[in-house]
Amino acid sequence: MKFFIDTANIDEIKEASSMGILDGVTTNPSLVAKEGKNFKELLEEIVKVVDGPISAEVVSTDYEGMLKEAEELAAIHPNIVIKIPLIPEGIKVVKTLSGKNIKTNVTLCFSASQAILAAKAGATYISPFVGRLDDISHSGMDLIEQIVQIYNNYGYQTQVLVASIRHPLHLVESAMMGADVATIPFSVIQKLFSHPLTDIGLEKFLNDWKKQNKK
Ligand code: E4P
Repeated sequence: MKFFIDTANIDEIKEASSMGILDGVTTNPSLVAKEGKNFKELLEEIVKVVDGPISAEVVSTDYEGMLKEAEELAAIHPNIVIKIPLIPEGIKVVKTLSGKNIKTNVTLCFSASQAILAAKAGATYISPFVGRLDDISHSGMDLIEQIVQIYNNYGYQTQVLVASIRHPLHLVESAMMGADVATIPFSVIQKLFSHPLTDIGLEKFLNDWKKQNKK
């Protein structure tokens, strides 16, 4: 399973990258806006830190506008993946970009039928948002299970990228279901390490060691 970090914060990206477990980065317009930096310059910074897929989202909603933005973003670095919203014009753009060998990440997916459209258009990744579904009392994880099964049934090459992850169980369940990628906020990456028995155990080992070495 690949781990992407879901952030546009360069310090978080550097810290997660230094852990040696990071395969890529996803950003979105809200995350980029929070950083208050020039988008292109920020992407140029990110590609220097992580040698893997970096998702950069378009903000136009018409075919021509999205295509123009996609081509400009793709020209920044070969690792840039173009993030496109799951709307009819977006799916047309995905089809065009897949014909040009430009990688795409179809975002804001909330149903299996939307995921089928993305796969048929040749998307590299589909991003179902599990946390936002849970927020409205729908099971985000049920959607992951459906998409993984449908893609397996037909051998679709589109990779399932679980997005809007809120806690470690989202990641564990995604892994059990065979999702290809999880994009994880930095705070959740930190939580993946946590276990009280690890802390208690380590403290005991170190104390026992110190007692013996005082003798
Ligand atoms: C997907 O790539 C999005 O950036 C992200 O996962 C959205 O998550 P949120 O629901 O926590 O905003």
